Amino acid sequence: MEIITTVERLQEVAMRERAAGKTLGMVPTMGALHEGHLSLIRRAHEENDVVFCSIFVNPVQFNNAEDLQKYPRTLEADVQLIGDLADYVFAPTVEEVFPVAPTEVYDFGPVANVMEGAARPGHFNGVGVIVRRLLEWVRPHKSYFGEKDYQQIAVVKEMCRQCRILSEIVPCPIVREPNGLAMSSRNRRLSVHEFETAANIHRILEASKQCGTVQEIKTFVESEIGKIPEFQLDYFELADAETLQTADTLDNPHGVMGFITVYTGPVRLIDNVKY
Ligand code: PAJ
Repeated sequence: MEIITTVERLQEVAMRERAAGKTLGMVPTMGALHEGHLSLIRRAHEENDVVFCSIFVNPVQFNNAEDLQKYPRTLEADVQLIGDLADYVFAPTVEEVFPVAPTEVYDFGPVANVMEGAARPGHFNGVGVIVRRLLEWVRPHKSYFGEKDYQQIAVVKEMCRQCRILSEIVPCPIVREPNGLAMSSRNRRLSVHEFETAANIHRILEASKQCGTVQEIKTFVESEIGKIPEFQLDYFELADAETLQTADTLDNPHGVMGFITVYTGPVRLIDNVKY
């Protein structure tokens, strides 16, 4: 595996591999890698000749200065974990990626304006800014994204459509801790007690599958989350699995999903469930 720190070298190797007829797979991350990330990298390794993994804590997608400052940075351990699963790890500085502060303003439409888009102004614009650059520099045949950030996948697909980026976007299932908590780099900031408590998010979402209607699900989840004093609910929404717009009924051709964001202490955790 080669660690790359410049955009010039990244483009050079990607172009060379592509010209040699290799298929390229790309896994964008912000590091502090866990089994969730590794599942994407493994999948990319299985499906492509050459795998690129980027590790870059992208400042322009953070709308909270403390979240950015506290975001774990563990490059050495990350590189160890990746081992031979990736051929190239792109780990640039902020100055290398953004010689000047980016000013692009996108309109990714309805998929980007609800839920995470509404709760974190500017977040998806920042995701679009970095993912576009990465995909244009590497030009991977396939790019891998986790369904933990389900809405992000819809936004990335829309960005690719608008910018005519031809990479296939491959969604990958959520990887969970043994207690059910969706793996996340932010879980490292939870105390042992908070970590155990946070398992209730998945438990409650799973239990809500027993409810018969959208209204019953909403009432159930909100009341169960409310019973746990460590939790502060940011939002719980039921939405069409494709358009991500509010679902008023479970009878929907695309399927309906529940999307939740809960503060556990200072840490914002997200999860989702398919009904
Ligand atoms: P990050 O949070 O590091 O996640 C990188 C990728 O790993 C994302 O596609 C995310 O959905 C996936 N992932 C995280 N936890 C997962 C889990 N438990 N199971 C399955 N997949 C999981 O998402 C980002 O970084 C950034 O927004 C990025 C796309 C890199 C742009 O900066």
